[in-house]
Amino acid sequence: MKKKLLIPSIIVLLTAFAVAGVFLLMQLYIADKSFDTLDRALKSLIDLQASAAYNGYFAWTKMYDLVMQGNLTEANALADEIPKSFPLVASAEIMQGVPPEENFVVGADGELLRIVYSIRDDDEFRTAPNAVAVTIIQASKLLDIVSPNGFKIDMTGGRKTTYGIHVSANLMHISLWNIIAMVLLTILFASLLIQRYVKKTAFFLDTRGLESIIYLFEQTEKMSASHSRNVAVLALFLGKKLGLRGKKLRNLYVAALLHDIGKIGVPTNVIAKAGRLDSKEYMQIKQHPVISARILKSFKEFERLSPIVLYHHEREDGSGYPEGLTGKDIPLESKIIAVVDVFEALVGERPYRNPIHPFSAFEKLKKMPLDQRIVKVLIDNYSELNSFQPPRWVLSYSPWLLGV
Ligand SMILES: [Fe+2]
Repeated sequence: MKKKLLIPSIIVLLTAFAVAGVFLLMQLYIADKSFDTLDRALKSLIDLQASAAYNGYFAWTKMYDLVMQGNLTEANALADEIPKSFPLVASAEIMQGVPPEENFVVGADGELLRIVYSIRDDDEFRTAPNAVAVTIIQASKLLDIVSPNGFKIDMTGGRKTTYGIHVSANLMHISLWNIIAMVLLTILFASLLIQRYVKKTAFFLDTRGLESIIYLFEQTEKMSASHSRNVAVLALFLGKKLGLRGKKLRNLYVAALLHDIGKIGVPTNVIAKAGRLDSKEYMQIKQHPVISARILKSFKEFERLSPIVLYHHEREDGSGYPEGLTGKDIPLESKIIAVVDVFEALVGERPYRNPIHPFSAFEKLKKMPLDQRIVKVLIDNYSELNSFQPPRWVLSYSPWLLGV
């Protein structure tokens, strides 16, 4: 793993564990609350069922009489009626036993719930001394009613609820998968954020680096530097008019800003020469787009801009340099820069000649082997240039606009 990725990776993992921890705690808290609710619901349901059987069953006096007569067979036959009236009761039986002091007591008997009733006559004055009625309720049936899913009877690993029924929560199994999914999602999300941050930082650093180069360039060749800024703003204006948006527009702007940066590789006396260039000097000048492209290529974030700067001196008819490409092979962005580059050179201040009026410059552009569609867009929209407001992101590439 690369060293610079170590800290982001640790941050991602710690974040993932923190999220998993919080999520687990939340699950435990929810499970705890769910248990309390389940406990209360179970108790209510059992009490309701037991007292309904005790108070609602019609034949207790008859049962009492049969028990007192010792006729347990008849008494049991009568008890068999109880499950028919109370669907939760699985079975009812008369047995030998000490009657509870209360009307009934409830206890868990493994996975079953056992409710033991005293056998009394309807007036509750007399109690059969050595017999009880026992009804059995399946605890799982109760669970199905109060909690259709999420809980199950678990005699070994479950948590003890009301009347001693052991219940475990399936919630925990679900939450394990939830946690895994959550951790994976967090890692993915945090990785994307960090990747974005790293990319932005790299972009910022590269921009700073290029700004430094521009600064050095300005120190040696002030005229070229202001030309590049003007070309960049003009290219931005024209690019917008031609329908470029977002990243494409940004790329165009940065490429226009740096299109002549390769001139730092050309001797200053050649760059600044007012008179006619000899063939050797002209060869040197023709190298500047190649050097510009090479410089941009060495910055990862600006690599894709290198073809744009490489071809900014190409012409529609193949008369340009460095490769003599014709119209269809020249990138649109290079064509835009070519138009504004020539235009700015014509209307801008130069030490060796006076600037010409934009309208005269238009006439010259119309006769040059430039993309005439772009020339026309420039001419048609030129009146709007004064009121053109560059987007805010331009400031991050152009500190001079802030007066820095
Ligand atoms: Fe150039």
